[in-house]
Amino acid sequence: MSADHEIDNLLHEERHFAPTATFSAQAIAKPELYEQAKQDRLGFWATQAKQLHWHKPFTRTLDWSNPPFAKWFDDGQLNVSYNCIDRHVLAGNGERTAIFFEGEPGDTRELSYAELLHEVKKTANALINLGIKPGDRVAIYMPMIPEAVIAMQAVVRIGAVHSVIFGGFSADSLASRIDDAQAKLVITSDGGYRKGKASALKPAVDEALAGDRCPSVKNVLVVRRTNQDVAWVEGRDVEWSQAVGEASDEHEAQGFDAEHPLFILYTSGTTGKPKGILHTTGGYLTQAAYTHKNVFDLHEQTDVYWCTADVGWITGHSYVAYGPLANGASQVIYEGTPETPDWGRWWSIVQKYGVSILYTAPTAIRSFMKLGSQIPNEYDLSSIRVLGSVGEPINPEAWMWYRKHIGGSHAPIVDTWWQTETGAIMVSPLPGITTLKPGSAQVPLPGVSAAILDDDGKELGRGHAGLLVLTEPWPSMLRGIWGDPERFKETYWARFEGKYFAGDGAKWDEEGDLWLLGRVDDVMNVSGHRLSTAEIESALVSHHFVAEAAVVGAKDETTGQAVVAFVILRQNQLENAGNDADVSKILRDHVSKEIGPIARPRTIIVVKELPKTRSGKIMRRLLRDVAEDRPIGDVTTLADTSVMQSISGKLAGGAND
Ligand code: PRX
Repeated sequence: MSADHEIDNLLHEERHFAPTATFSAQAIAKPELYEQAKQDRLGFWATQAKQLHWHKPFTRTLDWSNPPFAKWFDDGQLNVSYNCIDRHVLAGNGERTAIFFEGEPGDTRELSYAELLHEVKKTANALINLGIKPGDRVAIYMPMIPEAVIAMQAVVRIGAVHSVIFGGFSADSLASRIDDAQAKLVITSDGGYRKGKASALKPAVDEALAGDRCPSVKNVLVVRRTNQDVAWVEGRDVEWSQAVGEASDEHEAQGFDAEHPLFILYTSGTTGKPKGILHTTGGYLTQAAYTHKNVFDLHEQTDVYWCTADVGWITGHSYVAYGPLANGASQVIYEGTPETPDWGRWWSIVQKYGVSILYTAPTAIRSFMKLGSQIPNEYDLSSIRVLGSVGEPINPEAWMWYRKHIGGSHAPIVDTWWQTETGAIMVSPLPGITTLKPGSAQVPLPGVSAAILDDDGKELGRGHAGLLVLTEPWPSMLRGIWGDPERFKETYWARFEGKYFAGDGAKWDEEGDLWLLGRVDDVMNVSGHRLSTAEIESALVSHHFVAEAAVVGAKDETTGQAVVAFVILRQNQLENAGNDADVSKILRDHVSKEIGPIARPRTIIVVKELPKTRSGKIMRRLLRDVAEDRPIGDVTTLADTSVMQSISGKLAGGAND
């Protein structure tokens, strides 16, 4: 069956799930939101912004006089950490649990809002004592422990800017990100627990900073989590327990301009160099809080919310570190992997804490589905009221399984489409309002304007597929790419004048619901993580075995896409290495070391030539056909049409996996 047929089948989804009257009656989101936003979009966003505490109220909602550089609420001042913590304590909710922490080994810790405030104030003072000033960049490379959130909150509390780097990235990736942002401080830990073992983090920081690779870094602040032995650089490395322990617990949060930078988060683009996506203060928090409350139907006094994302990704920023805290939610943070000690771990956590809102990724749902419903069925999941999905399209089968076996056949599922760049959810059903349709992200949220265009920029209507764009600025939009305003303009705003091009294909179905069809550029999505084909190709060719490489994302049942690399080897280098060299393993390990384990190719296919057009561009479309085991498409534009025969012949002979 061709990909087009599959899409068409998807789009004729006939299962619809209307909200129940009981759910709608108590739902946070009211249908009027759509109407209000439509009539006065800016007024609508101003109303949402006013839910926050402003040290100095804003009078201007949006300045779009110099597109694509937007300014939201720009004459106002606020403090993100004050909004996320202090104001709940001041409102008398200091006793409410902010964080239920579950360590992978089974240790637990509970932090009330008052306790979180105490920790964040002390940490803020520790940072000040280390010389961190407003605007300074601080890199954070941490496991999922409360100190990760405390560190983020403390950094932004003093007006500094964090760059969180996912713990699965290698020392090289870490170094290039630290250097690009010119970070002054790195906050890390000795390690964290993953898959039943203590897994080290500090050695990667040491390697990243070795020699003079990152001269901007003055100190490394180290949390002890696993008590592994770690190397220690006197004068540079500082114990968290000491620095934070000795710091004062008094810290008054000052207001910063709404457009003051909040954080940088690196993400993969279509070139080998990751982009530092920049977000600022007022607009980001406004939309993170608004979407968190309305999309997840948060009743902060009674709900227990759990988002399984790591703080190293945007989801862990907007829907762990900021949105839930801004709304005064009680949330679970889990350190480890879903299979430790067994595949029932997540469901035991739901049962133990009475999780009522669960937000996770389709790749996880598909892994659980494969193992069978008997595992979740052993647990009491009756507390679940709302389920969320993010990171990639969710196939209707996985959606139905999620609803039935995790959601007790009643919990609404919100399939939320957004990106690192959008900062917060843009397209999603609203529980209690939207009639749900498995597999579709459905409708732009109130306040969000999306369209689907053809290649010439013509707007398409129902029943048509094209390119997804956002037609109006939104509060949590990226403000730029760190240090590269030109790349910001070219990447997102050049394709269609005045419109943000997201890089995703999408289709309106006949009922006006939106379906995401995957990336249309050379960005892959593996387990909901963004990877660039160019970045992996450049890692591969940096190995002396490799003359040339082409990488594609091939469909994978569990991870959505998988990295498949086609490589041409340097015969002489190979001969030097001896005949028994396991090329596939060596190259997969090499990518893992260069970028991180998440980028490790699933399959390496050794070929003699790559399919190229006469102008020398690699035709990935054809390689994808091979990797997905499909008949090969049109080869007439190839410089040498016999290349594909030799590649697919090679594959028939067995790819080395
Ligand atoms: O292709 C879309 C996919 O993930 C991309 C954004 O990746 P990232 O910046 O890492 O952020 C992931 C978490 C927000 C998008 O361009 N994507 C994200 N959510 C969905 C999705 N694709 C389909 N459906 C979704 N719900």
